[in-house]
Amino acid sequence: PNVTFIADDGTETVLDVAVGTSIMEAAVMSNVDGIMGECGGSINCATCHVYVQNAGGFGLPDVGEVENEMLDATAAERRPESRLSCQLIMTEAMAGLIVRLPDAQY
Ligand code: FES
Repeated sequence: PNVTFIADDGTETVLDVAVGTSIMEAAVMSNVDGIMGECGGSINCATCHVYVQNAGGFGLPDVGEVENEMLDATAAERRPESRLSCQLIMTEAMAGLIVRLPDAQY
């Protein structure tokens, strides 16, 4: 299923993300600029921060308690659509998801 990443400079990257893989892992494996994933997905770094552009209808999981705390520590401003991409595990229902990447992860 495809996920589109839109970098801060407008560059778009479309990846076919395997079901069960996190959006963060997929981005890091494909060297998408703008997602770091320093902690490897253990909700301990907030360098995988993304802005989900079109959250409705994709069945995304709710923001978890630890994720919520880490989202208060992102380098770029937190917005209502902020998520940690390591917590977004790909499903078929998430096909077509678009995430915008913040201007900074540090
Ligand atoms: Fe560290 Fe997501 S990879 S919080």
